Amino acid sequence: MGIKYIDNELYVDNVKVASIVEDVKTPVYIYSKQHFIEQFEKLDKAFSRKHSISFAIKANSNLSVIKTFAELGGGADIVSKGELFRALKAGVDPQKIVFSGVAKTDDEIEYALQNDIMMINLESKDELYAVNRVAKKLNKKARIAFRINPEVDPKTHPYISTGLKKNKFGVPYEEVLDTYIEAGKLDNIDIYGIQFHIGSQLLDSTPIYDASVKVADIIKQLKEKGINIKAIDVGGGLGIVYNKKEDNPPSAETYVAQIEEAFKDFPDALLVCEPGRFLVGNGGIMVAKVVYHKTNGKKNFVIVDAGMNDLIRPSLYGAFQEIEPVKIKNSQKIVCDVVGPICETGDFLARDYEMEDVENGGYLAVFSSGAYGFTMASNYNSRPKACEIMVEGNSYKIIRKRESLEDLIKGEIL
Ligand SMILES: Cc1ncc(COP(=O)(O)O)c(C=O)c1O
Repeated sequence: MGIKYIDNELYVDNVKVASIVEDVKTPVYIYSKQHFIEQFEKLDKAFSRKHSISFAIKANSNLSVIKTFAELGGGADIVSKGELFRALKAGVDPQKIVFSGVAKTDDEIEYALQNDIMMINLESKDELYAVNRVAKKLNKKARIAFRINPEVDPKTHPYISTGLKKNKFGVPYEEVLDTYIEAGKLDNIDIYGIQFHIGSQLLDSTPIYDASVKVADIIKQLKEKGINIKAIDVGGGLGIVYNKKEDNPPSAETYVAQIEEAFKDFPDALLVCEPGRFLVGNGGIMVAKVVYHKTNGKKNFVIVDAGMNDLIRPSLYGAFQEIEPVKIKNSQKIVCDVVGPICETGDFLARDYEMEDVENGGYLAVFSSGAYGFTMASNYNSRPKACEIMVEGNSYKIIRKRESLEDLIKGEIL
């Protein structure tokens, strides 16, 4: 099960990728439900105490994907009203939903309070006052946590580092106690938890441990001041393999063991984690068709029918994702740029990349596309968004239809 080659043909679970793309065309995202389940279970089993796995739905917010984790007992980490709407539609238990993000509006706070989610993770005093005000209007007490900026270097890409002093995220470490004390004075605030998230695609578990130790120290100090933390939310960030030759992420067991060790003095607190990439990243591929080849004397270009609007990670972060033919023919290898149809020089899926050449009309799979793939897609250059497919064992279903031209202009007024 999962995504693998059998006799030089790429399969997702038991279904041949070639047969899916012949049916639904390209570009297309294809997910392995089995992989998603296995990743969830790996993490779930690693815990030896009360915990909640709140899937960071920004990584992949398709309703069927969210529902897969909800059915396994998972919750959701959301960052907008739209994500909360999706989580509720997919059947996530509101008591397992945490709300992250630096800029929640009154409208979003109200929606979260009306739906009685587990807790709202706050990032500033301004946000605290806003939540208190909205809760008062609704005659409710808002369960809150503060997101702490532990000022630990996560050793990942600068764009996905969030726990450094220069980042916009979290309450500065030295202001945390004062901020909790302030929260304790407000009538419509129920201090429930503490949260941190130092970055994404973490390949070294030491920074997570270091941050956990710093947060554990804060919990101890809060306890001394009579503030009891009921939920410790360690964020997301666990890395995955993008590059088989280089990436060696910590296992779920190592990750959880370090967190449990750091918080061992608070055995009654609920441990919450917010994994995104770990649950879905390696369970998805994006398949594109080769439309043309072109050589300019210096470079070979393999031009495909998917661009940065479909999968932006390579263009946005210079992220590496492996690309392989859907059918391996062991033909000659070329070094090429795999580029898309968008009118931007930055529109590429790989640069100076060595791979087996695929003739025009053949298909290429971009691996590790299950996270931050479709969710970051746009309609730039008026390109309808790709369709999404979920494979379950021997069959597959369309879980999001390919957009039509009419979809492109939906809501526009002439
Ligand atoms: C607050 C928060 N939680 C969880 C996540 C998910 O991170 P990952 O996909 O690396 O697990 C993110 C990612 O940006 C985040 O900002």
